[in-house]
Amino acid sequence: MDKDKQHDLVRQAYGAIASAEGRSSCCGTPAPDDMARRMGYGDDDLIADANLGLGCGNPHAISALRPGEVVVDLGSGAGFDCFLAARQVGESGRVLGIDMTEEMLAKARRNAGSLGVGNVEFRHGHIENLPLPDDCADVVMSNCVLNLSPDQPQALREAFRVLKPGGRLAVSDVVAIRPLPATLAADPALLCGCVSGAADPSDLERWMRQAGFVDIRIEQKSESRDLIKEWAPGQGVEDLVVSALISARKPASEEGKNPMTKLEVYDPAMCCSTGVCGPEVDPALVAFAADLKWLGERGVEVVRYNLGQDPQAFAANPAVVKEMEAGIDRLPVIALDGHIISTGLYPTRAQLAAKLGLGTAEAQITPKQSSSCCPPKSGCC
Ligand SMILES: C[S@@+](CC[C@H](N)C(=O)[O-])C[C@H]1O[C@@H](n2cnc3c(N)ncnc32)[C@H](O)[C@@H]1O
Repeated sequence: MDKDKQHDLVRQAYGAIASAEGRSSCCGTPAPDDMARRMGYGDDDLIADANLGLGCGNPHAISALRPGEVVVDLGSGAGFDCFLAARQVGESGRVLGIDMTEEMLAKARRNAGSLGVGNVEFRHGHIENLPLPDDCADVVMSNCVLNLSPDQPQALREAFRVLKPGGRLAVSDVVAIRPLPATLAADPALLCGCVSGAADPSDLERWMRQAGFVDIRIEQKSESRDLIKEWAPGQGVEDLVVSALISARKPASEEGKNPMTKLEVYDPAMCCSTGVCGPEVDPALVAFAADLKWLGERGVEVVRYNLGQDPQAFAANPAVVKEMEAGIDRLPVIALDGHIISTGLYPTRAQLAAKLGLGTAEAQITPKQSSSCCPPKSGCC
């Protein structure tokens, strides 16, 4: 879905929740306090009008906030986690809640007034483009919001940017444990209901690493199953997503900044290292060579192995050997940081960009059809 369209859809859903009389929770479940208790909040935490039952866990369990710290809450809703954070950081600390939905911001500001909390501020903004300077926060927290973002890698890059060196990320969110069936994945209610946007944990881990985070932990909370079942009764979503506590740290020094990602391409036998050779060049190979150059310009280390010229490289990689044993048509094999991400065809630039967590806008300028090399068994060219 187009990014603006996704923002609009999510904004409308949460605007309606914020404007609803009384309190209502994410998917119509009527007891936010009960929901919050089941997510690990204590009775003292249950702040009326701020807890709308919209979270999917308790990020305070991993945030370890200290007096004086500056905290940013991504997608702060009616301010629930902000007010709890405000208690912990005290008067010398500060909490900034960011949300894109005006009705939520209005509710959060009203709550701050009625609670008399002075160390919290709510700002309008998108988590993919935070209205905050670099290196300003000790902790970035968030509760059930990343999954709603149309560009989670970008939201994580923004979280990294605004954290001070040594700062912490403390997130509660849903992650996918199985691919969603196409009908559920396309259901707007399940997107707004924090189901269909859940990321694969390995993608999430990679996006965080590529943003620069270290000490990454994604702890799945299997006890969330019953809660998630209630979000969309009868649809089996509890078999597809699970709540997770996600923590990481921005390195205190240069260590861990822009870690080099390695993309390895195990090509079928070709006449030269790129296959862009001989009188009848496959246009798909020309485009793929250009895409690899594009990745190289973005800091990705690209290594290509040609079965005809470097069979030892294939033999030295057990995962590649296993693929070849399954059939020579599994070539090309593409591996990202040692993990195989594609077999049997050359991915498009957009597909590579998505796997690498790179922005896709530029990637879409020169789309191309994915296609395998000239038939792998032919020895190409
Ligand atoms: C599921 S609610 C969670 C609210 C709050 N964290 C809580 O636990 O009560 C999601 C909130 O994130 C906001 N939101 C969703 N996507 C956003 C985005 N891309 N940028 C900023 N806010 C977003 C919504 O407006 C909504 O208030």
